[in-house]
Parts: sequence; C-alpha cells; structure tokens
Amino acid sequence: MDVVRINGGRALSGTITVSGAKNASLPMLAATLLTAETCTLRNVPDLSDVRFMIEILSHHGALVEKAAPGVWRVTAKEIQPRTPYELVRKMRASICLLGALVGRLRTADIALPGGCVIGPRPIDLHLKGLARLGCVISHKNGYVSVDASRAHGTNVFMGGRQGSTVTGTANLLMAAVLTPGLTRIDSAACEPEIVDLCVMLQKMGARIDGVGSPVLTIEGVASLHGCDHTVVPDRIEAGTYLLAGVLSEGDVTVRGARTEHLGAFLDKLEEAGVVVENAGPDTLRVHGGFHRCRPVDIITLPHPGFATDLQAQFSVLLAHIPGISLITERIYPNRFMHVSELQRMGADIAIEGATAIIKGGMRLSGAPVMASDLRASAALILAGLAASGETWVQRVYHLDRGYEQFDTRLAALGADIVRLDSSEMPNDGADD
Ligand code: EPZ
Repeated sequence: MDVVRINGGRALSGTITVSGAKNASLPMLAATLLTAETCTLRNVPDLSDVRFMIEILSHHGALVEKAAPGVWRVTAKEIQPRTPYELVRKMRASICLLGALVGRLRTADIALPGGCVIGPRPIDLHLKGLARLGCVISHKNGYVSVDASRAHGTNVFMGGRQGSTVTGTANLLMAAVLTPGLTRIDSAACEPEIVDLCVMLQKMGARIDGVGSPVLTIEGVASLHGCDHTVVPDRIEAGTYLLAGVLSEGDVTVRGARTEHLGAFLDKLEEAGVVVENAGPDTLRVHGGFHRCRPVDIITLPHPGFATDLQAQFSVLLAHIPGISLITERIYPNRFMHVSELQRMGADIAIEGATAIIKGGMRLSGAPVMASDLRASAALILAGLAASGETWVQRVYHLDRGYEQFDTRLAALGADIVRLDSSEMPNDGADD
C-alpha cells in the first residue's frame, strides 16, 4: 500500500493534534543507552524511523518495552558497542547512537552512514568534535571505531560550512555528559529537538549549561540515572498541517504548534499575508486561504532560521501565490527533488544552483507523481490537496518515516485522500 490518491479542491476544516517530534525522539531513544536504569519516554510518535531505532536499541542489548501507545520503557543494563551496516544503511540517523555508545562504553564501532537523496550526509564534524575530546578514531571497512578511554573535557568548535550540525551536537552532548572535565561546545545547534535532548539528559543527572544557546557547557559526571520524559511536539508536522489548511483554503486548528519553535516559518507566513491566529496554548489556527497573499523570499538556515524541513512544503504555497518567490536552500543545496514533480502538476519553478525561482499564481492540476524523500512526499500531498482533479503520489513509504497516519488524519479534516495498493493506479502508459 504505497500510493495515495487525492481528489483536490476540498477545503479542510477541524482540529489536528501533532505527534511527538521525530527528530527529538531519535536522539533521545539513543540517550537511553547512557544509563543502566530504566528510561521512560512519552509522546513518542509511531513512525517507521522510530520503530527502527527501537529495533537497533534491542540489537545493542537494551530491553525495550511498549508500556502504552506512545510510551516506551528502555533498560540498557548490558550493551554492546557495534552498530552494523545493515542497520545503519536503512536509517542514517542511527549515527546518533555514536555519542551514546562513546558516553556509556567509552568505545563505539559503527558503520558509516551513506548519503541520501537530499545530499551527502557527512559526519566529519561529529568525528572532529570527538577527536577534540581526545577520542582515538579509526576507519576500517566502512566502519568508524572510537576509543574514548583517555577522553577529557575541552573546548570544541562544531561549526561547518553550513553552520551548526544537529545530530553532531547531539553526539557530542551524549559523549561529553560522561566524559571527565568541562566540555564547551561552540556553534552548537539550537534546534528545539536539541533543547529537548538537553532537558532529558539533565533529568538523568547530566550537568549542562547554556541550553538553547549556541554555547553549551557540560561538566562530566561519573554516571547517569533513569528518567521519565515527554517528547516535544513535532514542529515540522505542525507547519505541514498549517500549510494544508492554507492550501486547501480551509479552516484548520493545529494543537501542539509552539510559536517559539516556528518563529521563522510563521514570520514568512505573515509576510506572505496568511492569517494565522493564536487559538490557545500551543495552538494555532489558519483560515482564509492564500488569495490575498504576496510572494516572499526564503533562505533556509539553522534554527532559529527558516527550517530546511519545511522548505519543500512551503514551495507548494509559493507556487500558488502570483508573482516571483525565491527559496534558497543553504542546508542541503540539492533538496529540490520535489520540484520536477510539481512541474508535472503545472508549477512554474526554475532551479538556479541552490535557489528555486517560483513564478506563482496558477492552479495546479492533479497528476501521477513520485515521492523521493520524506519532506518531498509531504509537499506532493499538499499539492494534491490544492490541485484540480486526481493526484496519485507514489512511494509514500517515505512519508511514513516522519508523519504518523498523515493520509487518515487529513481525511479526518475532510480531504478526499485514500491510501491504495500501487496496482490500483491507472496505467496511463507512463514508463516505470
Ligand atoms: C537533522 O539532520 C535532521 N534529522 C534533518 O531532518 C534536518 O534536515 C537537519 O538536521 C537540518 O536541520 C534528524 O534530526 C534525524 P545536520 P542532521 O548535521 O543532523 C552538514 C527530516 O526531514 N554537515 O544539522 O543530519 C550537512 O551536510 C530530516 O526530518 C557537515 O558538513 O543534519 C548539512 O549540509 C532530513 N558535516 C548541514 O551540515 C557534518 O559532520 C546540516 O546537517 C554534519 C553535517
């Protein structure tokens, strides 16, 4: 069942509650390996990436129990340091185990992640940071091995060509919390998911100052204890549902949409002329569509800049706004795989290097399109909601990595959307 059929033009209405953040859940699941005591994580989203991370924790020897829907208990009494390629290749984000293994075991042996469609996904900054702590790092047969037996706290600069690194910061944090001495991380990522990880680590007994700022100071402790922590809401999912409400010209309320997590995104919606109302604590409402909107110019940046994970979805809105809009992708310059599919639906978008030049204002028409990655698949579904006629989005397994029941939850808001087997897709003679 990996195609979704959408009949566009239906105005969505109602309230949706976002799930826990995927990009907070993954490093926090890894962080449960930092202690032999039980950690309870709540509001964990039911996503394929999360289920896979749980499988990897079990591989390392942790006892993992589902205590209730969205509630996982992990007890990592005895764990082993090796993460094999057959696991890492299926989800490159599993590299966030590196810091937890180094922190707990003082050693790690993990397969190097490959790249993915949105671009190369290097870990040079992760390894540079660990080496600064005094870890001995070696590479062999596609694996990286880390010996942290003589690691000690020091100053680490974690900035790269594109600025800070989210998972790199998570890895350095998880290594440093159990490394003797004082570690100062400069150019640390400030994403809300990193803040959430810091809060969880502090609940476990870690000593971290500067949470939420680009300078984190960690005083290593001898050991950490268990914790009970609730995952923050997913800001990317919240932004995606807000855009669904705007593009369908409906009236949609999103619970769990924290304005402090969506600053740049909401600023650009307001600049474009979209009406976003505060409808209560962590609750935002959109209504009024996009017909009085104007073009905007977006550059993706590390938080608090405009999130690259909302870029593809926002480009669908800009394709509907008359005038020229620009999106420059500073984090992953190739992250425009959705554009060629949107062009099949009638969007007028040209790519010049890392910039998409969007000549907006026309109504898209439904078509069979191909999802290439997680956020591109969400963008294509948003396009289908706004388009006239029928859109078939293929390879929607990408979607299930980061959105819990996206199709059924959009249907609950009134969308004419259904998940089908690819054999039910009309064969219009197109090549495979
Ligand atoms: C996290 O990936 C997210 N994934 C990504 O979300 C998100 O797009 C990205 O941060 C940026 O916000 C998870 O948290 C699981 P980075 P991460 O290290 O940590 C370069 C989604 O759709 N870089 O912050 O891998 C890198 O190439 C996913 O949910 C180096 O050069 O991203 C990129 O250009 C996609 N060397 C930039 O930095 C390094 O050692 C940011 O990467 C590390 C990164």
